[in-house]
Amino acid sequence: MSTVVDRGLEGVVVGSTALSNVEGAIGCLTYRGYDIDDLAPNATYEEIVHLLLYGTLPNRHQLEVLKRELGSCRALPEPLVNAMQNVPKTAWPMEVVRTVTSGLGLFSPVNANGEHMSDVHTAIELIAKLPTIVAAWDRIRRELEPIAPRPDLSQAGNFLYMRTGKVPHAVEEDAIDTYFVLLADHSFNASTFAARVAASTRADMYASVTAALSTLQGDLHGGAATAAFRTLNEVKTPQNAEPYVRQVLERGQRIMGMGHREYKVRDPRARHLEAMAKALDSHVEGERWYETAHAIEEASRKVLQEKKPGNTIYANVDFYTAPVLADLGIPGDEFTCLFACGRIAGWTAHILEQLADNRLIRPQAAYDGPPTGPYVPIEQRSGNGVRG
Ligand code: COA
Repeated sequence: MSTVVDRGLEGVVVGSTALSNVEGAIGCLTYRGYDIDDLAPNATYEEIVHLLLYGTLPNRHQLEVLKRELGSCRALPEPLVNAMQNVPKTAWPMEVVRTVTSGLGLFSPVNANGEHMSDVHTAIELIAKLPTIVAAWDRIRRELEPIAPRPDLSQAGNFLYMRTGKVPHAVEEDAIDTYFVLLADHSFNASTFAARVAASTRADMYASVTAALSTLQGDLHGGAATAAFRTLNEVKTPQNAEPYVRQVLERGQRIMGMGHREYKVRDPRARHLEAMAKALDSHVEGERWYETAHAIEEASRKVLQEKKPGNTIYANVDFYTAPVLADLGIPGDEFTCLFACGRIAGWTAHILEQLADNRLIRPQAAYDGPPTGPYVPIEQRSGNGVRG
């Protein structure tokens, strides 16, 4: 019997969700029926957290309650901060964030069976604490003392405050807030799927989020923004964009931050991030990234169309993340951590959705190894890879 294998599960529907919908053919993303184009300029990240976790946009009272809860659980357990102080300063930020997030489980209460809660309050705790981990490591690796979180600031404002000790300019806070809104959820992307697979085994929320963080790390997923920033640094000026793109494609490599499994037109989040990158370039001092980023996207489209007529390629969410976060002074190797600080709302909402109607996720594989044969005793093994 022959089995059709969809490599990378492309086009395979593996479950259902009411949280978000990606319409790749028309470039549309919605969270619980609200278009990201409406949410990005109008809603705060806290409103999105409420929408994803509780199912509705909050009224003023609900929003205040949520903000109070987020503000009250931002601080990290002291032993985890001490442990971070002992990590080699060269550690990759995503490794630290993944490890410390997993460690949070060690300090969370357990029930009579020794199990952690995996409820909406655990979700809020994880959403609140993730930016604290990122900011604390940012300072510790620069030999600076971590700054305690402030309960009165927004998720975005508090994150920037914990990096510098200064309440950020409204333009900068808004930029991070919108970035978090844009990144909050994206249907069954690889990291969210990993979280749901872990949750489906009844692993707790700390373990499931750790699985998601591990999956986000790679540069075909959340690691692409860091890779896109490396590209920006190599290209440096708009004039270098086309020769660079030609070289990369000639070598059969990819332009990081370009292309998407689902979007056949431009990723709608890229449009918002591009506008932000353009606006921030004129707000901040120092290196300006937007023009170079735009030139790389244009060159990629042109060169790819020359090489494969009819094919086109667009920026995905990670591409313009690079100039936006660089303009805000975030180091390139922390970009994936920032992605996680936004996506944690989606991950936890998906875990809750999975648990509410759980069935173990356990797909099949088409076996293409050798046929079944007898066990070969060690004295009879040839050692040349041939059976027997
Ligand atoms: N640069 C150059 N060519 C690209 C490309 C890129 N960034 N992304 C896709 N392509 C090309 C592939 O080479 C392939 O060409 P081929 O059919 O001639 O072999 C074709 O487009 C399809 O690519 P494929 O890898 O099969 O698509 P996918 O759905 O598995 O890949 C990504 C999706 C995201 C993994 C892919 O676009 C990519 O590697 N992008 C760069 C990493 C990135 O930005 N990731 C973040 C995603 S949000």
